[in-house]
Amino acid sequence: MNSLGFKRIVSTIAYSAVFFVCCGTLRMNAQKADHPIPKIVHRDGRYALFVDGAPYLMLGAQINNSSAWPAMLPKVWPAIEAMHANTVEMPVYWEQMEPQEGRFDYTVVDSLLAQARQHHVRLVLLWFGTWKNGSSHYMPLWLRNSPDTSPHVIGATGRAVDSPSPYSAVTLNGDIKAFSALMNHLKATDRQRTVIMIQVQNEPGTWGSVRDFSPEAQKLFEAAVPGDLLTALHKQADGAPPTWQQAFGEDADVYFHAWSVAHYIQQVAAAGKAAYPLPLYVNAALRDPLKPALPPNYETGGATDNVLPIWKATAPAIDVLAPDIYMNDREHYLKVLDLYHRPDNPLFVPETSRSAFVAPLFFEALGRQTIGFSPFGVDFTSTSQNPEWPGLTKEALAPFAMNYELIGPMDRGIARLNFEGKLQAVAEEKGKPLQTLEFGPWEATVSYGLPHFGSRNSPPAGNPEPIGRALIAQLGDNRFLVAGFFCRVDFHLTDAASTQQRQFMRVEEGNFQNGVFKPIRIWNGDQTDWGLNFGSAPQALQVSLGTY
Ligand code: DGJ
Repeated sequence: MNSLGFKRIVSTIAYSAVFFVCCGTLRMNAQKADHPIPKIVHRDGRYALFVDGAPYLMLGAQINNSSAWPAMLPKVWPAIEAMHANTVEMPVYWEQMEPQEGRFDYTVVDSLLAQARQHHVRLVLLWFGTWKNGSSHYMPLWLRNSPDTSPHVIGATGRAVDSPSPYSAVTLNGDIKAFSALMNHLKATDRQRTVIMIQVQNEPGTWGSVRDFSPEAQKLFEAAVPGDLLTALHKQADGAPPTWQQAFGEDADVYFHAWSVAHYIQQVAAAGKAAYPLPLYVNAALRDPLKPALPPNYETGGATDNVLPIWKATAPAIDVLAPDIYMNDREHYLKVLDLYHRPDNPLFVPETSRSAFVAPLFFEALGRQTIGFSPFGVDFTSTSQNPEWPGLTKEALAPFAMNYELIGPMDRGIARLNFEGKLQAVAEEKGKPLQTLEFGPWEATVSYGLPHFGSRNSPPAGNPEPIGRALIAQLGDNRFLVAGFFCRVDFHLTDAASTQQRQFMRVEEGNFQNGVFKPIRIWNGDQTDWGLNFGSAPQALQVSLGTY
């Protein structure tokens, strides 16, 4: 190695030490200072969720719908611990919080916060308000059982649909009051920012009818499209303002319903944000991203991929439009990640299937700068009788738990590296046992299905199932953070014509303590001669490269 190469290595070692020390210092300072309100920050085309003044990665777990009751929490925490989650998503039920009009009961939400603090996790609260999976089943009974005040969507045939009308001033005002009350309560009682983000409604929209065909809805549908929406969609018309049908043709029904639902939720979200400006998001039940079904065969009105611009224009108080991904094949899954990772939208996966297949795909989300990821149904409350769908076990969580066990100790560093655009991450694709990542003069290869010894030049076979995953972050010119499971990572010079060869100058395995990398051993010999091999152990390496 020449002296320039040596200097580079020394400077990159110093850089990465400073980087991780900075993370640690930031963390300590944040603990000392008053905690700023969490916020979404957008810089250089990338997003981060800032918590305590620095990027935060939500290693999330969402509990079952009826588990956010104090009596159930003893069955929640063991699953959260087994999962190594740093953030728990828990519902707040409007029917519980406002059992009588205007009388608010915060006892349940207070226990969620108190117990989350005891268990050293942050919370994302899910406001089960007007909409829950397209229906209104969490509206308090005093409001829900009155067709005059809480009307349903009326389908094209005139029959009522199990979905709240987005045009009821009574339910809108009720939701605004209740949601604002919740936000005011959090503002008053959560100075330590245990709650870092709020989901406004749950999978809002309508199953079973493309839109509301009630007389009131029909009148609006036949009226002009709001001018600001047309402007936002670059659809300025010459002459008279167009109706929905004139402006959008065959998409008119779907667009109209998306605007109607988004308009309602904007008013709830804006009122809540005025009380306490936490980041807010809306989650979406998806349509097939590759072969979309025709409405009403998916949940219309929600933030599906075809109406994201309508939601962005209509509901600016919502910071993130987020996909609930229950698709168990890679092509669909990645397509959804790409559709929601947009210049105007941070990627966040607030719900996803607990199927083992999904666990490696967490790395694909990381590679698209996700601000968080959260498998659904993570608690031990299930008493299913069905052997095909048994209750959750610790073993079933293992493929996800290993991800969080690896990333958890360096979550702040990973969030910062991602926000700075320095991180790439991938998951294995069946039939494609080799992936290549570019880092300027260095090319990283991630291969799957190779033995830990030997086979430097033999082709990888792939794992029997695609369980491999890896992340690589550039800490300096020749210095990288490398971690993964069931794969081999190696580096080569990108310039194939170069006569120089790569050598590992130093490979350190370490732990992160308060964000600072503490080496526990140097990898050399069999551990580096064939590349950097990762199995099922949570191992993070700092790698310095040189040439000879
Ligand atoms: C998506 C919903 O958002 C969740 O609340 C829950 O109902 C799951 N579906 C169940 O799969």
